[in-house]
Amino acid sequence: MATNATWYTNGKGKNVKVLVCKDYETLSKRAAGILAAVVNGKTDPILGLATGSSPVGTYKELIRMNEEGTLDFSKVRTWNLDEYYPLAPENDQSYHYFMNCNLFDHVNIDKNNVHVPDGNAADIEQAGADYEAQLDEIGGVDIQLLGIGNNGHIGFNEPTDVFVGPTHVVQLTESTIQANARFFEKIEDVPTQAISMGIGSIMKAKKILLVANGAGKADAIAKTLEGPITPFVPASILQLHQDVTIIIDEAAAANLKEYKPEA
Ligand code: GLP
Repeated sequence: MATNATWYTNGKGKNVKVLVCKDYETLSKRAAGILAAVVNGKTDPILGLATGSSPVGTYKELIRMNEEGTLDFSKVRTWNLDEYYPLAPENDQSYHYFMNCNLFDHVNIDKNNVHVPDGNAADIEQAGADYEAQLDEIGGVDIQLLGIGNNGHIGFNEPTDVFVGPTHVVQLTESTIQANARFFEKIEDVPTQAISMGIGSIMKAKKILLVANGAGKADAIAKTLEGPITPFVPASILQLHQDVTIIIDEAAAANLKEYKPEA
């Protein structure tokens, strides 16, 4: 029977589940279904959210569920991964703005329950420490949604020689600035720094859900799932998390060698 989505396994351990979908629509629906199950399964759900083009379809699906009355955001609290620095939340390139446009403005969430790192803080180091303290206070998010950069970055944790734990200020790599330039008028407008949850902050999440689509992500996905765990491929740390689901399309799955469709 033809199916739109197939679970893949590498035959070793079940902490990382991989679902390969025929198309972006299927991927988005499956990802939204997992997030909705977390929201519906708790009285005080906490979501970790992400920006970028990959989760936009997932957010559309969550909005649809909210409109049809099957998903209630009134008790949901959210913490986002990252924000450009320096950039005001009102700036239409900010991740604050992105989240409002792509999700928050369209669902019944209380905006007081929404948290995005403050890219406009006078003391950015302190803002990072405060954000991390919030994550500690809530005991980590119930589920963290992630995209992945072409170079394997998660949040804005760029490839480097160490895994940085807490929320911190990062210097964006040239390749990330180039990749994100499409959202700005000109490349000079792309901020060169950001404030991002660290690898430790992300790993505090009880569950992790990563979405990726397109051939441009195939190399990063193969290295994340099948390569060595190294800060040069930040997402590779996810191999050590206890509950990860990676939902990708066939193009993003193209370079996998060890992961095969489940028998
Ligand atoms: C940005 C974000 C990441 C995101 C990545 C990929 O750098 N900070 O959180 O995962 O871009 O974005 P896209 O989904 O648009 O490919």
